[in-house]
Amino acid sequence: MKVFKTIESLQDNLSIIDKDKTLGFVPTMGALHEGHLSIVKKAIKENDYVIVSIFVNPTQFDKKEDLIKYPNTLEKDLELLEAIGCDFVFNPTADEIYSANIKSESFDFDGLDEVMEGAFRKGHFDGVGTIVKKLFELVKPDKAYFGEKDFQQLQIIKKMVAIHKIPVQIIACDIYREKDGLAMSSRNTRLNKAQRSEAPLIYQTLLKSKDLFLKKDINFVKDFVNNAFDKNEVLKLEYFEIADSETLRTSGIKIANQKYRAFIAVFAGNVRLIDNIALN
Ligand code: PAJ
Repeated sequence: MKVFKTIESLQDNLSIIDKDKTLGFVPTMGALHEGHLSIVKKAIKENDYVIVSIFVNPTQFDKKEDLIKYPNTLEKDLELLEAIGCDFVFNPTADEIYSANIKSESFDFDGLDEVMEGAFRKGHFDGVGTIVKKLFELVKPDKAYFGEKDFQQLQIIKKMVAIHKIPVQIIACDIYREKDGLAMSSRNTRLNKAQRSEAPLIYQTLLKSKDLFLKKDINFVKDFVNNAFDKNEVLKLEYFEIADSETLRTSGIKIANQKYRAFIAVFAGNVRLIDNIALN
């Protein structure tokens, strides 16, 4: 497995790949867990070569504290990637990517960034769009893989690729969970014992909301979720929304034949956890 720190070495090495071979790309911020690895394994199955980027992107953090606290486990990450057969890793510094100008581009995501994560984390998706666009331009992958764990991010990247006509196929990957249902996340390591033992309530509530969604109206489901978290002393609900799976427009009424998803963000102390589920 080759590890590149500079754009020059990345491009020198990628330029010698035969034109008839496919390159799959998995962008990450490191602190890799089984969720990330499940995506890399899928990319390995579907491509001749796979490159993973490990870059903690400063422009997508709305809270400086989260950027500073972001776990760095580079050595272990590289071991894990090597063990599953990843070909290349791109691990640049912020200077290499942004030079002296650590700033986001401003994007039009057609309203996808105005709800949920976009509403609660100002500037976050401009930061994500900025780095993913830069990485696509540098790596020029045939296919790029993103987890449905960050479903809004996935939809935003599909929109950006369409608007900017970037020649890459975006592949959605299933959410990988712990045995008790908690969606895997690098933030889970920051949970204390009590928080970790309550955290499965997030997925349990999503499963119940899916069940209720088929029989009851949207407001009934929302009330149910609000009540479930009101009773919990460890977890604090930030939002629960039911939205159209494509446009992410939140809605109070169900429209026939439309696909809906439930989205949730919860605080356990100062650790923020998100999850989502397809409802129909
Ligand atoms: P990061 O949080 O490291 O996630 C990298 C990829 O792994 C994302 O596509 C994310 O959705 C996916 N992922 C994380 N946990 C997952 C899980 N439990 N199951 C399935 N997929 C999971 O998302 C980012 O980094 C950044 O925003 C990035 C796209 C790299 C841009 O900086």
